[in-house]
Amino acid sequence: MQFSDVLKTRVSTRSFLKDPVPEEDIRRILDAALYAPVGMHRFETLHLSVVRDKDILERIRLCAVKASGDANADPLHGAPVLIVVSSSDTGTVGALNVSCLVENMLLAATDLGLGNLYVRGVIADAAKDAALVSDLKVPQGFLPMASVAVGTAAEKIVPRKTPKNDVTKTSYV
Ligand SMILES: Cc1cc2nc3c(=O)[nH]c(=O)nc-3n(C[C@H](O)[C@H](O)[C@H](O)COP(=O)(O)O)c2cc1C
Repeated sequence: MQFSDVLKTRVSTRSFLKDPVPEEDIRRILDAALYAPVGMHRFETLHLSVVRDKDILERIRLCAVKASGDANADPLHGAPVLIVVSSSDTGTVGALNVSCLVENMLLAATDLGLGNLYVRGVIADAAKDAALVSDLKVPQGFLPMASVAVGTAAEKIVPRKTPKNDVTKTSYV
């Protein structure tokens, strides 16, 4: 896909099919994360967890159930794969780094024709569950900060003709 088409085709998917994501696609998405800019080259402050285990995905979902009180809460929307990004820097630069990795992965998944979603809310809840964080194999001293849900979109992804955002203004000085 042309880069400009990738940008226009990246949209949040909130309904995924259960189909597994090919190993090679996961590898390419992870690879894209590693091309992201990281402040002061501090790549060692970042960690990726690829979650495919259905029980762990369910435990993450249950964090949202607990936080919201809604038994049907499903922040992963049935995605078969969640890539959690953790950082040992929980400050502003750490969060910005995490977001760079996430965006690269969203774009890579889009390029591969996969549905994808930036998922942060439930990760903040999951990060409070020490047993769950341990089962994600997050190293000591790292905090899960955001994630990317990936899978086959239940509905066809239609590229945008114009940006969704006509609110953000630009100043030329
Ligand atoms: C920092 C950040 C956190 C987000 N967290 C969530 C989230 O927890 N759950 C969710 O469904 N979408 C989340 N999103 C996706 C946004 O809601 C979405 O990108 C926005 O509504 C624009 O829609 P689009 O992605 O289709 O262009 C997040 C996006 C960003 C950048």
